[in-house]
Amino acid sequence: MTYTANKNRYESMKYRRTGRSGLLLPEISLGFWHNFGGGDSRESGRATVLAAFDAGITHFDFANNYGPPPGAAERSFGVIFRENLLAHRDEIVIATKAGYEMWEGPYGNGGSKKYLVASLDASLKRLGIDYADIFYHHRPDPDTPLEETMDALAGVVRAGKALYAGISNYPAALSAKAIALLRARGVPCLIHQAKYSMLDRWTERGLLDVLETEGVGCICFSPLAQGLLTGKYLDGAVPSGSRASRGDTLNAAQLTPRLLETLNALNRIAREGGRTLSALAIQWILRDKRNTSVLLGASSAAQLAENLSALSHPPLSEAELERIEDALSGTAPRA
Ligand SMILES: NC(=O)c1ccc[n+]([C@@H]2O[C@H](COP(=O)([O-])OP(=O)(O)OC[C@H]3O[C@@H](n4cnc5c(N)ncnc54)[C@H](OP(=O)(O)O)[C@@H]3O)[C@@H](O)[C@H]2O)c1
Repeated sequence: MTYTANKNRYESMKYRRTGRSGLLLPEISLGFWHNFGGGDSRESGRATVLAAFDAGITHFDFANNYGPPPGAAERSFGVIFRENLLAHRDEIVIATKAGYEMWEGPYGNGGSKKYLVASLDASLKRLGIDYADIFYHHRPDPDTPLEETMDALAGVVRAGKALYAGISNYPAALSAKAIALLRARGVPCLIHQAKYSMLDRWTERGLLDVLETEGVGCICFSPLAQGLLTGKYLDGAVPSGSRASRGDTLNAAQLTPRLLETLNALNRIAREGGRTLSALAIQWILRDKRNTSVLLGASSAAQLAENLSALSHPPLSEAELERIEDALSGTAPRA
């Protein structure tokens, strides 16, 4: 398929500085955890990726194990990248990670230098690129000295296999230690990748303060709570083909009456402001300038387009933010 990138692709997207680094990231980034596995349609994935790039999304996020099977998402994007986006390599920030189980034996999981270096090499091959823009340790490994893991991240940056180092899912105090160890090795920590949405606000309890002090960015994953913060589950039913219908990382049991009440209260606030629920959820994250980018997933270009509508609305007003707090604390008036 021949592809010509949209000439106006940088007009509607806004870019935020990642901490105190030189790197700008788009306010919305696209992740490949789901939707790019061996059983997913390559052409639907291609349409989503190209629609993203056409809308100014310059950041694509992977991990070694994204699929299924593990590795499939990097491989699938590698094909799309080679066929359609190669000429735009210098306009794209590609991130990958290692930290969860990837291959058999003692060196395919965790935080050892042995695992991280080998995993990044394998990711680069699957993606078909010479270097990753960002390489993350995917989750803390309590059994490996933090010094060794940070040595591995600093080493791949020094070797030119990655331009920047990041950490993911590290709690606040451990993040501060990791950031200090990286700095001592002459490789600043660029960014922390953390779960954050209206339904999971753990980063507000310490992590964001650490990152702000240290000049490290924050990219927020599962910003739509895997689809809960969209219009699709509001009546409590699980549409076929949705993530909850597959039941692996989201399931029907999570749709409790209390959650549905909260989602519907949020949806009313969204609709009264002329927004969709997903746009509200995205704008709510972007209200805090410490959140560099909203890292969302989309199983179609249509979903992505709906989510991108977040960028065309005025910022949420103080009154709307207060109503959202009431809805989240269960004190919103009932419909
Ligand atoms: N560092 C980590 O440990 C970690 C962990 C998880 C994720 N991540 C990263 O964060 C990225 C995003 O995570 P996520 O996929 O959980 O994010 P999300 O944006 O909260 O959920 C995305 C899913 O919600 C549904 N959806 C999205 N927009 C929709 C819309 N407008 N209408 C209806 N449904 C919609 C789609 O699922 P269905 O259509 O299938 O229902 C889509 O795949 C991942 O791809 C990955 O890059 C990182």
